[in-house]
Amino acid sequence: MIAKSAGITNSIDENLIKWDPKFKIGIPLIDAQHEHLVKLCNDFYQSLLKSKSNKNEDYHALVKQTLETCLNYAATHFKEEERLMEASKFSGYKQHKDAHNSFTAKCEIAYADIDTMPISEAIKFALFLYDWINTHIAHEDRLYMPTLVEFLKEQKAKQG
Ligand SMILES: [Fe+2]
Repeated sequence: MIAKSAGITNSIDENLIKWDPKFKIGIPLIDAQHEHLVKLCNDFYQSLLKSKSNKNEDYHALVKQTLETCLNYAATHFKEEERLMEASKFSGYKQHKDAHNSFTAKCEIAYADIDTMPISEAIKFALFLYDWINTHIAHEDRLYMPTLVEFLKEQKAKQG
């Protein structure tokens, strides 16, 4: 199955998203966090595939745990991005923070329902995660890149 999003084409199989250097925005700290977030999104997807083929409760617990890990890491990553955007006085800070908040709100609803969610719905939610992360990295995160690169350069110069 091929998913097309944000102009990036990836094959969807066992790895929902294959990390590709083209995802990089050029800020090592942020790139490393994005790569890890993609891995955690894949872990959640993998747990759904296991749950689909093995209908026992252990896998259900694994689904909940992998989703929780993924969403907790997304929250940590968003906080870091927001801290840097605010400190660098990025003009699109509020709009970007709003995008994080509405994504988080959708995820919280899905997380609250995950115990009773049919597997087909959970897979749809994993595809939503994939699509949102992919599009967000490819578009919104690129907008702050020049401001943040400049800011981080200044910070480094100050530190000597
Ligand atoms: Fe972001």
